[in-house]
Amino acid sequence: MFRVTRQYRFAASHRLHSAGLSDEENRLLYGKCNNPYGHGHNYVVDVSAQGPLDERSGRVLDIRVLDRLVEQQVVGPFDHRNLNAEVEAFEREVPTSENLATEICRRLKKSWSTAFPGEWPRLEKIRIAETPRNIFEIRTDEIE
Ligand code: NI
Repeated sequence: MFRVTRQYRFAASHRLHSAGLSDEENRLLYGKCNNPYGHGHNYVVDVSAQGPLDERSGRVLDIRVLDRLVEQQVVGPFDHRNLNAEVEAFEREVPTSENLATEICRRLKKSWSTAFPGEWPRLEKIRIAETPRNIFEIRTDEIE
């Protein structure tokens, strides 16, 4: 069994602000991340899959297929966007990197079998670096 990780990048802006809290509570909770005009990040996303080596190709997966999937589901919809205003999931949820990782994982999990119809490879986890010091990781089996 092998694990393969492919790295993707996108830039997006967000504001941490919970609709269920007052402006003052939001300021206390999120500090400068609650700035009304938002701020941007250059996100780095690692997508990891696992599987046995394909006998014919000697590979776990076709990277081109993964690239198309991640472009359609993640980079296309998120790159140069305002996450709060332009991504439906963040109309309800605060676009923290934890919630962003969960949303990316959810999207890839949902469309995975269309791109990879066989038993293998399987999506294993998503890791997102908001900054070089802030890194968030979620495994596919940890979400619905
Ligand atoms: Ni931020």
